Amino acid sequence: MTEKSTNQPINQSVLTVPNPAALVTVACELITAAAAVGIAQRGFAAIALSGGSTPLPVYAALAADPDIDWRRWRIFWGDERTVGPDHPESNYGAAKAVLLDHLPKPGPLVMRLAGEAEPDAAALAYEKILHQLVPPRPEDPRRLPAFDLILLGMGGDGHTASLFPHTAALAETERLVTANFVPKLATTRLTFTYPLINAARRVLFLVSGAGKADVLEAVLHGPRRVEEYPSQGVAPGNGTLTWLIEK
Ligand code: 6PG
Repeated sequence: MTEKSTNQPINQSVLTVPNPAALVTVACELITAAAAVGIAQRGFAAIALSGGSTPLPVYAALAADPDIDWRRWRIFWGDERTVGPDHPESNYGAAKAVLLDHLPKPGPLVMRLAGEAEPDAAALAYEKILHQLVPPRPEDPRRLPAFDLILLGMGGDGHTASLFPHTAALAETERLVTANFVPKLATTRLTFTYPLINAARRVLFLVSGAGKADVLEAVLHGPRRVEEYPSQGVAPGNGTLTWLIEK
């Protein structure tokens, strides 16, 4: 595993691993370490899962970890498709199949984004839940819910969560969760916005797939063009940002 800094804030680092198995191992270490800090400091860990395929083997490995006290975890999603939980496109459904269905009971508190509901109402309802279940940093005047860890992926177009290039949600500065119409997908997605993501104590990107190499280089080392590469908008002001990249 190699680590190098990037031309971003000092609290950002890039870890590169040689293969998918190493990505799973290191991701589990980083995720469980972040959870342990939250549990030690606040009695529980607030973790937001990412959608997509990259994290699924990581979720399966976490489910098999006998040392995790799931009763201390509060699990959320950083974005969701506007479909029901049983739909093949559901991020919740994908995580349920490899993680949630394999956990001991009593287990974590799981708060699903209601993709089947009217999108604006679902986003607002989720935002209210976050204010109730994810405490802010004591020093934050905006009282933004501060996740112990927000897991993110990056798409081949540089999107993250459901913050796609040139979409309205990129400009959102007040709402923490919003319904974002994505023209290129001709659908609305529910997504965390930058104010919420950047209030996190830790953000971890998991990136794999050779086809993303050029975009990743542009995101990490190119000029700042958030509209083009929304992943560049992730910069937790008081948190750490780690990119875990599988070559
Ligand atoms: C989603 C995800 C999305 C994902 C990236 C990468 O809802 O699709 O949240 O942001 O993380 O598209 O997806 P892969 O891991 O499948 O490459």
